[in-house]
Amino acid sequence: MSEAKAEIATPKKKVERKISKPIPPPAVSTALLILRGTIAGITGCSIGNETAASLMQPSFVKDKGPTGKFSVGLGKRNGSLCELDVGMEGDDGDADKETAAALLDAIEKAANRIIAEDLSVVRFQMTREEAVAKYGNVIFDQSQQKPPKKKKDVPPPLDLVYIEGLVLAVSPGPTFSSTGQVKSIELQRGNYMSCVTAGKKARKCEIGIKFKATGLEDSSSTLTELGEPVSMDVIEPLTASKIRLQEGNDFALVQQTKQMLINKDKESKANEATEKKRDEEEMVVDPFSVQGKIDYTKLVKNFGSKVIEPELLQRLYDVTVKRGTVPYLHRFLRRNIFFSHRDLEAILDQVEKNQPIFLYTGRGPSSSAMHLGHLVPFLMTQWLQQAFNCPLVIQMTDDEKFLFKGEYTENAGYNLDYYANLTVENARDIIACGFDPDKTFIFSDLDYVGQMYPNICKIWKSVTTNTVNGIFGFDGSSNIGKIAFPAIQAAPSFASSFPVALNVRNDPSKDNMACLIPCAIDQDPYFRMTRDVAHKLIINQNEHPLRGKPALIHSKFFPPLQGAMGKMSSSDENSAIFLTDTHEQIEKKIKEHAFSGGQDTKKLQQELGANLEVDVSYQWLRFFMEDDDELERIGKEYGSGTGEFWSTGIVKAKLVDVLKNIVTEHQARRKEVSDEVVKAWMKERCLL
Ligand code: TRP
Repeated sequence: MSEAKAEIATPKKKVERKISKPIPPPAVSTALLILRGTIAGITGCSIGNETAASLMQPSFVKDKGPTGKFSVGLGKRNGSLCELDVGMEGDDGDADKETAAALLDAIEKAANRIIAEDLSVVRFQMTREEAVAKYGNVIFDQSQQKPPKKKKDVPPPLDLVYIEGLVLAVSPGPTFSSTGQVKSIELQRGNYMSCVTAGKKARKCEIGIKFKATGLEDSSSTLTELGEPVSMDVIEPLTASKIRLQEGNDFALVQQTKQMLINKDKESKANEATEKKRDEEEMVVDPFSVQGKIDYTKLVKNFGSKVIEPELLQRLYDVTVKRGTVPYLHRFLRRNIFFSHRDLEAILDQVEKNQPIFLYTGRGPSSSAMHLGHLVPFLMTQWLQQAFNCPLVIQMTDDEKFLFKGEYTENAGYNLDYYANLTVENARDIIACGFDPDKTFIFSDLDYVGQMYPNICKIWKSVTTNTVNGIFGFDGSSNIGKIAFPAIQAAPSFASSFPVALNVRNDPSKDNMACLIPCAIDQDPYFRMTRDVAHKLIINQNEHPLRGKPALIHSKFFPPLQGAMGKMSSSDENSAIFLTDTHEQIEKKIKEHAFSGGQDTKKLQQELGANLEVDVSYQWLRFFMEDDDELERIGKEYGSGTGEFWSTGIVKAKLVDVLKNIVTEHQARRKEVSDEVVKAWMKERCLL
């Protein structure tokens, strides 16, 4: 080997362009050919002009043992010649390490398979012109690209080999043999794959290979027998970018999977970011919009209401369940769905002292079909009415919806009637909630407002436009009805608004009846305003337990099917289960649209369990399933991915079951509510 050293010294001047290099051991030259073939077969590149294999650097001279070094250009990154994204990351020019390693593994594996299967490297000869015509320039490596300078004699025939779908030219004089000459090929690891920049933006990918070829003991420098020239059919389509080896397909698959994971990761990071943004997005809760992630603790703090503490619940229990008016605390109370209050203690004081109180709630009839979320305050109110055995007034704010919804066009006067009609339709659903017919008065603002008018005037005089604008966000462009409306929602908080129903006309002491308002927390602004001016409406302030102020009990929002952000809208068909939905619709909506907090795969679900906090099916079960023990079990099992309720599918099925029953029963009760029945409930009469 030492004598070869002199020959590899780089010629200082271009004296004569003659390729002169030491003759590699047979195992090395055979390995080089096999590697050139496998690289082409794995990457799908045809080794040719653009993607030429470099001259082999004769590292076998310097290094101990039979080693070689060369590189193969894979063409422009993302270019057509390189079918695989070899995973260059960023702009630092370095190949992604894992991908580089995987590619080297694949090449090594394929090369050794070829050796093990003893796929012979067929050698044949042809004139240069003929070979180029037949196989194209792809057969050459860099050293061979230029035809040797014509000498007088006819150029010697070109040595070619065929290996795994590829024909390669062999430089003059190498001692290659069949694969039998080489026992194994080992690729040296390290930073051998790189991405180089050629030109402004064109990035070229290059694989650098350093290998060690172990030869057979008795390997000699004999050439294999010449074979038949390989027919074009065998090697077609040589120039097409096509992965030709199984190892290449495996590699591609690994890369695709990896790419998928990277994409997924990017996606979930992006999602996280938007979610975070949404979280940080200011929470908005007012009667007209509910936005952002609701932080109920913060809400209570901002609004200045109070959390319903266990002691207060115990007191509520004592004056209701213990007195035998109701069998148990409502699940909405047990589960903290009604979670906040104002002056609930004072109401309980009154109940304890057997002093009269009344309940007030309401609904703005914006659509004829009510959904499950709309039931929440009414179900709570029904329970409270039974628990306290007290009168209840229900305000239907058809005026509100008329004033707040949509544009008022020249000929849209009729849509006031439209909302008035919705009142009747919604009243059917409300009546179906099981209130006490003798103690419940449902009224439409449009026809009852006259009785409340004295109180409305008093509230109007007590509240400035600036205050209303500040609370509700109105401004000079708001129609004057909007600015006037809060007084109308405030008025029923005063018993004196019901001279007949609460008998205040005959018994002025009834003016001091305390009022409790169950509502969703977004309605609180109306009643903060009411409470601020309440004392002005009461004749004898000291006689009223709350100096005229209504007490409140607030619920959290019932989450839309798509997820726990904000409140449900009747306008999005698929965000809610309507009380008119069929069993099929319920099943379909839950299965297809209920946001799942479960994991993506069975394995992960069983390992980690679901995120109950965001899982709509579980959250809905909290609202509508009565059995505490079963709910707890579902929470435990689903939350940990174990037991009967380990999966989203099973929990959804349970929810569908529960909802079907509720909706069926509701529909049956609603069917009984004829026009006459509605009229009777909406007739002004004494509830005492
Ligand atoms: N503004 C409520 C809505 O849009 C209706 C309403 C009127 C109300 N009075 C109420 C709700 C008292 C709760 C309590 O639905």
